[in-house]
Amino acid sequence: MAKVDNEVKGRLALITGASGGIGAACARDLWGEGASLALTYFQNRQSIDVLLEELTKSDATGRKITVHCVDTGSPDAIAQLFDEIKAQHGQAGPDILISNAGYGKRFPGILDVSLEEFDYTININLRASFILTKLSIPHMEAQGWGRIIFISSIAAIGGGINACQYAASKAGLSGMMKNLAMKHARSGITVNDVAPAMIGDTGMIPDEKFVEGTPGDVKNIPVGRLGTPQECANVVTMMCRTGYLTGQSILLSDILHAREQRPNSAGIVHELKLAEQTANLIIEALGKLSDEHITSWEIFAENKEPSMGEDLSSESQSFKEATICLWIAGFRTPQVGSATRGVPVAKEASRPVQLRSRTCISMPSDHI
Ligand SMILES: NC(=O)c1ccc[n+]([C@@H]2O[C@H](COP(=O)([O-])OP(=O)(O)OC[C@H]3O[C@@H](n4cnc5c(N)ncnc54)[C@H](OP(=O)(O)O)[C@@H]3O)[C@@H](O)[C@H]2O)c1
Repeated sequence: MAKVDNEVKGRLALITGASGGIGAACARDLWGEGASLALTYFQNRQSIDVLLEELTKSDATGRKITVHCVDTGSPDAIAQLFDEIKAQHGQAGPDILISNAGYGKRFPGILDVSLEEFDYTININLRASFILTKLSIPHMEAQGWGRIIFISSIAAIGGGINACQYAASKAGLSGMMKNLAMKHARSGITVNDVAPAMIGDTGMIPDEKFVEGTPGDVKNIPVGRLGTPQECANVVTMMCRTGYLTGQSILLSDILHAREQRPNSAGIVHELKLAEQTANLIIEALGKLSDEHITSWEIFAENKEPSMGEDLSSESQSFKEATICLWIAGFRTPQVGSATRGVPVAKEASRPVQLRSRTCISMPSDHI
């Protein structure tokens, strides 16, 4: 039988995006396990300095932390990172790779996502993991031991609050992970991903208020709170310490996933009808749905920054052109329609308003 070796102590862990919430938590955990660290940041030098100071206060006997400024969207910058690792840690690559740095901008739907935005997101979230892994594998193969962990997202399986470019980048990670896990299992290298949803204390979701009125609203989360970066780190560390686990995507999401997969024909019917209707018909139709069905709404106004809420009877919203997105029992109806400035979005609105109908994207069949 092959030797069981789950020792993290004495290994070198490369963690990208350690200046962010989840990356920093992983750094703390693996440092606590006795690993040396190569940590990257991109724009937030201050956070990484604070983390460095915190970690180096504890016992650092025989190990090292190095910090690297890397734009993971740049292949050259990643190549330089590996040169720095070789120079500063004396090995060609890390023993543990946590590809965590990520980017996600919210848009109402595919029509709002430019080609540039799509490419940018894919490069940072997916291509970077490909390059990091490609540069890490030779050292791991040579020593017959390695751990590769991607930080994916619930978006990879169609959930979450971001648009398709983000979902594609994260689903790509899961596919790549499964392929790599098969190919490198015999070399003692495990490849897994953690797919979180709604993790607070991060740049992406600073606090509960930030997600009020979205499906991630803590009111919609059965355990009644956001997840924590430490809980992500718990799973990452478990993956590092469990060599029998490979090719797995761990969904760290309360039971949000189950809720999103719940069959809900009412939501779909309304989505299809509403795409062609006027604003007051939308509102009328919404009035027929129970509060249980409408979990929240979002309005993407001219500047494309979403405003969110729950109370559709509020008359406070007026705008020139906006895309209205409704979350109906966990499903988001993409681009329900556009309305005109001065028209309140309210259940009681009576004046007919012509909508510019926009493409309605159907839910994947396995969500219906
Ligand atoms: N928070 C959630 O609910 C959630 C849910 C699902 C998945 N995730 C994933 O978790 C990972 C960590 O995010 P987080 O939640 O901890 O958010 P965060 O606090 O905003 O951290 C994001 C990290 O990514 C780095 N980064 C962003 N763009 C980069 C670039 N071009 N090059 C290099 N680094 C870059 C940031 O570096 P600087 O700050 O130094 O620029 C930061 O360290 C991401 O992959 C994200 O997609 C988060």
